[in-house]
Amino acid sequence: MTAAHTAIANPADPRHWQEVDAAYQQLLRDVQRSEPHPWLLVQTLATTVSRRVLYGALSLEPGWRLLDVGTGFGPVAVEAAGAFGCLAVGVDVDVDVLARTARVRDALRGSTWLADPPGGRPTSGNTEMAAPGASASDVAGDVVLTAGDARQLPFADEAFDAVTARFVLQHLPSPTTTAAELVRVVRPGGVVCVVEADDGLSLTYPEPPAVVRRLQDAYVAAQHARGGDRFMGRKVASLLDDVGVEVTSVLVMPQAGYGVVPPSSLGRCLLHDRLAAVADEIVMLGLLSYDEVRDGLEAIATSDFGAQTAVDGHLAVIGRRR
Ligand SMILES: C[S@@+](CC[C@H](N)C(=O)[O-])C[C@H]1O[C@@H](n2cnc3c(N)ncnc32)[C@H](O)[C@@H]1O
Repeated sequence: MTAAHTAIANPADPRHWQEVDAAYQQLLRDVQRSEPHPWLLVQTLATTVSRRVLYGALSLEPGWRLLDVGTGFGPVAVEAAGAFGCLAVGVDVDVDVLARTARVRDALRGSTWLADPPGGRPTSGNTEMAAPGASASDVAGDVVLTAGDARQLPFADEAFDAVTARFVLQHLPSPTTTAAELVRVVRPGGVVCVVEADDGLSLTYPEPPAVVRRLQDAYVAAQHARGGDRFMGRKVASLLDDVGVEVTSVLVMPQAGYGVVPPSSLGRCLLHDRLAAVADEIVMLGLLSYDEVRDGLEAIATSDFGAQTAVDGHLAVIGRRR
């Protein structure tokens, strides 16, 4: 086993994350061969700055078992395992995403970032995953990926020292059930951290054309109709308090920039594909006409919005299970 992971020396130094960044860039290149704009992966990369600010506030310790719920491409699991020497378990309902996340994990095993699993580094296959509830033999600094539903987690009570859920509750119609599950699987005194977006903390100046703004508003309305909530960030602290978390901090992790985002950029493709994915739903719900959706998507794909200031704040609520 290689256990060369080290505590964070200077996480603000981009060189600290070089191996992780290289592994995710490689995944992006691989995925783009069959899927030109994998929006969730692009979003994972686009929110790196605000994510990494979080780690300093989490007080994770080497050897801790960390559960990351709705792990997606696994950035929190991979980064926390390597930076702190935790055994990170990433759980998600989407097994296709997990298979891709496993490629990043496998590429990093045996590097200076992740430890090798018991029995050494796998030589074949890149989709190795643990059965639900597996102990993963407690290898500090490694990541285990497993399929499971956040509303009914496949883990025993108090199985983890810390639990994280980033950008997950906003998608679920029953956030209280999920919040209670997060608390159930963490030991008393263990760390609970939920990170959410809140559209009240996002702004762009000058605003995009009206046809695009209308489409963005319809996207928010469609998510609400599905039981999701784009204003989840402000609600997380009360939600956690209600299910047994002593909230110790609420942080805003900002990202901001100024410049022209050309139609061909990944950021613009991310916006386009995120909205295109719900185009039919928006029309079916009667939020916009087919023509309005088409015009909005076309403007995103082709129009020059000029230089814009874009500000985004993500809210992290951190606490301890009572
Ligand atoms: C926006 S992504 C966030 C991924 C990751 N946490 C991150 O910070 O990049 C939301 C993830 O939640 C997962 N998800 C949605 N509903 C879920 C559920 N009921 N149980 C577990 N995961 C779920 C999705 O498959 C997706 O991977």
